[in-house]
Amino acid sequence: MLDQTQLKHNAAQAAIQYIQPLLGPDVVLGVGTGSTVDLFIDALEAHKALFRGAASSSERSAVRLRARGITVFDLNEVSAMPVYVDGADEIDAQLNMIKGGGGALTREKIVASVAGQFVCIVDESKLVAGLGRFPLPVEVIPMAREAVARRLTELGGRPVLRDGFVTDNGCQILDVAGLRIPDPADLEARVNNIPGVVCCGLFALDGADVALISTQDGVRRIDR
Ligand code: A5P
Repeated sequence: MLDQTQLKHNAAQAAIQYIQPLLGPDVVLGVGTGSTVDLFIDALEAHKALFRGAASSSERSAVRLRARGITVFDLNEVSAMPVYVDGADEIDAQLNMIKGGGGALTREKIVASVAGQFVCIVDESKLVAGLGRFPLPVEVIPMAREAVARRLTELGGRPVLRDGFVTDNGCQILDVAGLRIPDPADLEARVNNIPGVVCCGLFALDGADVALISTQDGVRRIDR
């Protein structure tokens, strides 16, 4: 029986295999954030001579990339990126996701938007029939926090401030439990439209292109 760390490790290794044909001397990879991505970064070190560097979705991952000898580029220096690799807090069979448990959702969405494809690496505990058990992270501009919280309550959620947490963008996060999410893209658009919301952790308007889901029986691949 593999434990969760071993499952995450297998997902990270599957991502290494997946990206290998895409590597080249001019290639900048998009790298996400989280404990699964940490293992991906560690595995990436052995291949660092085969690509130019990475653009990162967080200070946390940037530090880890540099520690492994991988050059980190500011996204403004990167015009094309073949692939972005990141984890998720929940993913459904249509490859809609909830992300942001680590608080990096806004930069994750930005870096992913530049990439040709989004490869999501998760262990099987993240695969759900319907999104919403994991509270939805919503990054907010601090002065709008209470106004946004009222609107999220009107949508049926129970927003709670992530206490003492400040994002890499100097903003705050509301974790919203209790939302019903029958149409993830519709809710993503509604939440994004609330004044004061920087970004919400639903990735449905642009979900993953490929999911590598690590199970006790091996890594299962789902394509969008
Ligand atoms: C970071 O903000 C998140 O979106 C992560 O991608 C997500 O929380 C997955 O993290 P783990 O790999 O640690 O579960």
